[in-house]
Amino acid sequence: MPKHRRRGGAAARRAPNDPSRTLAEALTLYSRGDLELAAQHCRRVLKGRPRSADALNILGVIHARTGSPGEAVKLLTRAAREAPGRPEVLVNLGLALEALGRHPEAEARYREACRLPGRTAQAHFALGNLLRTQGRAAEAVGAYLRATELDPSFAEAHNNLGVALVETGDRAAAEEAFRAALDAQPDHVDALANLGALLAHHGSPVEAEHVLLRARQLAPERPEILQHLALLARRTGQGGQALDALWAAVRLNPDNAGAWIDFVDALAAADFSEVDDPAPYAEVVRACLAREGVEHQKLAKVSAQLIRLATDVGGWIEHAERDPAAVRAAAARAEVLAALAHPLVCAALPRLVLTDLGLERLLTEVRAGLLEAVRDGTEGLPAEALRYGHVVFLLARQCWLNGYVYVRTADEAEAVEALVARLGAEGVRTAGDLVAAGLVACYRPLTDLPFVDSLVEAAKAIPDPDLIGLLVQQVQEPLDEEELAADIPVHGTAANRVSEAVQAQYEEHPYPRWASVDMHTPEPLPHVISGLFPWVNFDDPARFASPRILVAGCGTGRHALMVRTHYRGARVTAMDLSRTSLAYARRKLLEAGLDDVQLFQGDILELEHLETGFDLIESSGVLHHMEDPMAGWRILTRLLRPGGLMKIALYSELARREVVEARAWIAERGYEATPDDIRRFRRDWIEAHPETGLQDFRDFYILEECRDLLFHVQEHRFTIPRIGACVDELGLEFLGFEVTQPVRAAFEARFGAEADVMRSLEAWDAFEREHPDTFLGMYQFWLRKPEPA
Ligand SMILES: C[S@@+](CC[C@H](N)C(=O)[O-])C[C@H]1O[C@@H](n2cnc3c(N)ncnc32)[C@H](O)[C@@H]1O
Repeated sequence: MPKHRRRGGAAARRAPNDPSRTLAEALTLYSRGDLELAAQHCRRVLKGRPRSADALNILGVIHARTGSPGEAVKLLTRAAREAPGRPEVLVNLGLALEALGRHPEAEARYREACRLPGRTAQAHFALGNLLRTQGRAAEAVGAYLRATELDPSFAEAHNNLGVALVETGDRAAAEEAFRAALDAQPDHVDALANLGALLAHHGSPVEAEHVLLRARQLAPERPEILQHLALLARRTGQGGQALDALWAAVRLNPDNAGAWIDFVDALAAADFSEVDDPAPYAEVVRACLAREGVEHQKLAKVSAQLIRLATDVGGWIEHAERDPAAVRAAAARAEVLAALAHPLVCAALPRLVLTDLGLERLLTEVRAGLLEAVRDGTEGLPAEALRYGHVVFLLARQCWLNGYVYVRTADEAEAVEALVARLGAEGVRTAGDLVAAGLVACYRPLTDLPFVDSLVEAAKAIPDPDLIGLLVQQVQEPLDEEELAADIPVHGTAANRVSEAVQAQYEEHPYPRWASVDMHTPEPLPHVISGLFPWVNFDDPARFASPRILVAGCGTGRHALMVRTHYRGARVTAMDLSRTSLAYARRKLLEAGLDDVQLFQGDILELEHLETGFDLIESSGVLHHMEDPMAGWRILTRLLRPGGLMKIALYSELARREVVEARAWIAERGYEATPDDIRRFRRDWIEAHPETGLQDFRDFYILEECRDLLFHVQEHRFTIPRIGACVDELGLEFLGFEVTQPVRAAFEARFGAEADVMRSLEAWDAFEREHPDTFLGMYQFWLRKPEPA
């Protein structure tokens, strides 16, 4: 900087009165990056020649670059007035207007520049960029195409053309555009990364790796290149490499939401049983659990594995399996609590449901042991246990999350009621009382219990974050939901007896009881579809720029939130039969800062009144709970506009074969759909069938979800041929199944990746017969309503 100053100063001294020379020097200084001195030169020129378009232009650009876009707009407007035929001045003005958020004016300036004769490639390029940021990818394609026609060596324009084409769903043309960018500039990092990403998803893995490694060599600090490499590694079955690449990506850019989601996905699929030192991985999982915006539940399996491998809890699990009475006694002496106080356990307990029978066994014994110790008064608790009181509060949050699914004896139930009565009569006064209250919350929610007020008062004296978390979960949030429920509009009532019974089930047990979900960076809907099904083309992707979406049977809002955050510009209406579910949904949406999702209570069968013309309708796990799924499906189809998309999820007969067996077992033995019977059923089932596929369902570990899985009042199951017949009858186009990466890879290995086969119901039917667990997570598939011929 001082060097430039000296040189500029000398130059200015040499030719104080030569504006042309001063201007030339201003330009040189500007291109060297010495903006301050360049600005001084421009001002000197403007003193002598106040209408110099060049000086106004350079000075305007400098202001725009140094964070004064308002001043830049003034200077550039003057420059444009003085030199009306210069496209670059209009482009600079447009960029400054864009920085101020004045998009329509910026667009008008770019379009004006595009109409000028001469070198307007930059103007078309700038227009394309503006259109793309506004979600108008199809229009952006036109602008970029013109830019590349005018200047075929314009690598950036080819690259951005490719990006816009990806967003419109035209993968083949996008690939061509990225290749054209690389022809123009072989080391264009963005084009390499974008081409690599495209190939990593759908193309040749060998070429994808080559391209991405080149990109990484050129820009080792770019996290998204590592993400693409990781995706490729997962696609080719190299999970360990994927994990390493993604961990590097999140460390490079800890604010990148997508990188964390990818990392958590890779972590969830990992197996640490063979690693020498699992402790660092335990710390990594803990770090993921501390992050917002990722679905913590995905880490349930790996958390349990690392809790077993990397903490003292593993030993206690084995102990509980061998000698449960000894573990109960140890709980009363707080020995196990010390092990459970491990940071990974403390991070997992309030955030995800631990789907591990060994851990469940241990936690059930610990809970019972502590209850035994306090049943005759909190003197029964040693000082040591009070030190680990926070573990009890966290355990209570785990028990709430799992719907109080752990089995309890009649003695325990009685002891809890006695404790409730004592605390109700005496109030919560001592540290021991606080732990005792926490213990009650391990058996039943605190909501409405007679000692809640005194508990809240007592909690103020010791600001323990885990106790506060418990009070928020079990006192504050239920109150919030009660209040929110009152404002949810109702459109019609349950239309028939099945709807009534289904409604009653979900009013009592809303589904799912979820805590966190992946918060994706929004993408244009056609882009999402082309990522899933590259063979799907969109004639008019611009129609999805701000899609109107219906989530039919949204449950507790997880689904609605995912839809709202995943698709760019989404305008979401979500409905359900169950008001309790909708209240939970509203609270969770508000918690995520989303107050624009329209919720209402009603029956799909009564949706005739709804305005038609939805661009997308999603209904997951709903139609199979209706008396006549086709009746609901027909109504949803009617609500869709021609060209609109539909995503449906339905139970698979084959994947649920063990569920069917268990349902028969339940019917035979007469278990009812009550909390006590569901707990009893689980205990008896585990004893009689210690290792069945049922234990692999997450639903098995959560009381409400176990009811949904095995005790539902109405359940239809589908086969792929039946889905085919429904889709034909509805006159819809089948676009494809949404499956996990390993399933897709196995299908491609068996049948190939041609579009015709990927969307062939016959091929998928054959595949499912060979791999009957393929659709354990339901058939999830996309449909499109054809445009009239
Ligand atoms: C298994 S839950 C699925 C919730 C949500 N789609 C998800 O995936 O998280 C099924 C939901 O469908 C709702 N449902 C069932 N039949 C319905 C109907 N006829 N009209 C509206 N909602 C219905 C239930 O109330 C329940 O909340």
